[in-house]
Order: sequence, then structure tokens, then C-alpha cells
Amino acid sequence: MEDLIKIEYLSKEEIETLIQSANEFKGGKKVEYENEHIALMFFENSTRTRFSFECAINKLKINPYIFDNSKSSSSKGEEMFDTINNLCAIGINTFVIRTKEENFIDSLKKYNYYKPARFINAGEGKSAHPTQALLDYMTMKENIKDVKDKKVVIIGDIKHSRVAKSNVALLKKMGANIVICAPSYFMEKMDNIVFEEDLKTATKDADIIMCLRIQNERLEEAISKEDFIKRYQINSNNIPKNAILMHPGPVNRDVEISSELLNSKRGQTILQQAQNGVFVRMAVIDSILKKRREND
Ligand code: CP
Repeated sequence: MEDLIKIEYLSKEEIETLIQSANEFKGGKKVEYENEHIALMFFENSTRTRFSFECAINKLKINPYIFDNSKSSSSKGEEMFDTINNLCAIGINTFVIRTKEENFIDSLKKYNYYKPARFINAGEGKSAHPTQALLDYMTMKENIKDVKDKKVVIIGDIKHSRVAKSNVALLKKMGANIVICAPSYFMEKMDNIVFEEDLKTATKDADIIMCLRIQNERLEEAISKEDFIKRYQINSNNIPKNAILMHPGPVNRDVEISSELLNSKRGQTILQQAQNGVFVRMAVIDSILKKRREND
């Protein structure tokens, strides 16, 4: 694995190897790098992804560099290729990028840089959030061991969610029974996936319930939050008895999940997801740096 750009580019075996490595890091495995430098380039806000990447980088004894777009020379008209090329010349050649532009990282990968550049997608537009899907998969395995033939119901704003797209790509590879549940205004058709608008029907006998935040910053037109809450909020009364509750965060309390459920023991899996994010990101960085060292 040279880069991590989309889940679709990984094989089932590569995913399992990353999860195994993440589990080893969680179990205390130590890997320490010398003279490695990684830039964190976040063009959209983030808490979990940015801090867990920083934490992973620090645990691996790698030097992190925070790119502050507002203070960079991008404001003077420098193109992103030139910015990255100059950072490669300075000695930073691994880039963790969050962006609202679709296929931005694939487009950066096409250039020849001063030194080979490696890219990690930390969330891209509405289409890809591969490290989130990996940490979600790690958390699912911790709770239900194997997702094959298990019912995973993804609920809410599917249309604007990169988390949903990357999770669907990963869970399809692993043979899960995926059900997408959303109102028509949040629905986006996907090949070979079951769609169910009615929450009660969708969640019947679910093994995993994954709620998504309404992506207010990406909505093309206003929706009725009250309608969404009435029809799609998960709470103690409607969550299936044995289902694991998940959410990528940030949660909007009392919208997609009720506060009382979030504060209960069943809400803890969401923090387990955040915790696993550090180990998954350590595994991804370690895998990419190992591969580069083999090639050098
Ligand atoms: N899940 C997720 O990507 O959260 P952040 O936006 O806080 O990084």
C-alpha cells in the first residue's frame, strides 16, 4: 500500500492486515521512526480525525507539521502541486489531507514531485473517508467478531456522507448485509444495496445500527429537522435489543440519537470508535512508511 486514498483501492486482505496491525498497536506494539516528517493539511474542520492522526504520528515518533491554509502561501496564488513539491524539497513527503473537493487526492497523486509523495485521505467531499471506515470495521469486529452475513443498518444523511460511502465499500467486500435507511431527501442509490425508508422495518433484527449526522454544511436545500427526528432518531425505545450503536461523530445530540441513549452504556461504542481511530491511523502510517522504505 503506497497511499490510502479510497477503500475501493484496497483488497480484502489489505484491509484485514491493517486491522490486525491496528489491533497489535492497541495491544501495546511499539514502532518508532527516526527522521520521518508528515504534514497534516486540513482544509475542512475536524476534531477526531485530526487529533487521532496527530496522536498516531506522535506515538510513532514521527514529526508532525500542521499546515495552516490561512497563513500559507496558497493565499498568494500558489497551486497545491507547487506547495506539496516545495514541502517535498524541504523534507516532508507524507501528506494527510482533508478536503471538500471530490477526487482532490487522486488528482494530486498524478504529479511527479521532487521526492515521491505519499498521500492519506482524511476525508474527501461526500465520497471518501477511508480511515473512518477502517476504524468502524475494527470496532465492529471487536463487538461482533465477523460482519459476514450480519445486518448493518446505516441511517440518516446518506447523500452527503463520505462515511456512508466508504463504509458501504468496505462492508460490501466483507459480505455484510447492508441496509440503507433514509428519507427520500437524504437517499442516494447505490448498486446492490437494500434501501428502506421506514426505520422500524429497516432496523428489525439489526446487528449494527450506524447513525449519521445531518451534514448541514452540504445541504442544497433546507429540510425539516423535526420531521427527521420524528421518523429517524434512534432512542432507547426503538433501538433493537441486541444491536451495537455506532456513529462516526460529531454527534448532534437529540437529532440522530437521543441524549439518554447516547449517555447510556450503549452510547460507549461511539467512544470506542474514536479510540480505535488512533490505532488504525498508526497502522495506516506504518504500512505506508514501511512500503516506502522497502522501495527506497
Ligand atoms: N468522524 C470524523 O471525521 O470526525 P471529525 O470531522 O471530527 O474528524
